[in-house]
Amino acid sequence: MVKSAKIYTVLVIHGPNLGLLGQREPEVYGNVTLKQINVALHKLAEEHRIKLEIFQSNHEGEIVDAIGKSKGSFDAILINPAAYTHTSVAIRDAVSACSVPAVEVHLSNIYSREEFRHTSLIAPVAKGQISGFGKDSYLLGLLAIIRLLDSSPK
Ligand code: DQA
Repeated sequence: MVKSAKIYTVLVIHGPNLGLLGQREPEVYGNVTLKQINVALHKLAEEHRIKLEIFQSNHEGEIVDAIGKSKGSFDAILINPAAYTHTSVAIRDAVSACSVPAVEVHLSNIYSREEFRHTSLIAPVAKGQISGFGKDSYLLGLLAIIRLLDSSPK
């Protein structure tokens, strides 16, 4: 009997103000909407037999709760912590505590912007970070997760 390939489940977290994409500072973030990003993520996920759960929150505690509950339900986390990238010890601790591998993504190149954006509190506890490729940062982040899960011992 041929064993079917495992279906992985990935939690996608969009942090504060990302619901405004499309209208928000288009010179920085482009014209892409969150809906378009989510559609592209679902398409890529389907091609790779990945199940996605996607949520956006403007609230630090909600993001901490979602990460805290991820163990046992999700194989990996794809997160754009948005402004919390630079401020949230709570989200960093949640990522560190949950032992679910996380990949951090940013639409803009945070290192080419204001100095306060150059520090990510999340990056040291993430598997890696992708920054600066607009919508493609999310798709590259999901591909990185797929490679990671495919190469991790089952
Ligand atoms: C962002 C970069 C953050 O500095 C900013 O606060 C955001 C979006 C990005 O995707 O480029 O809200 O995470």
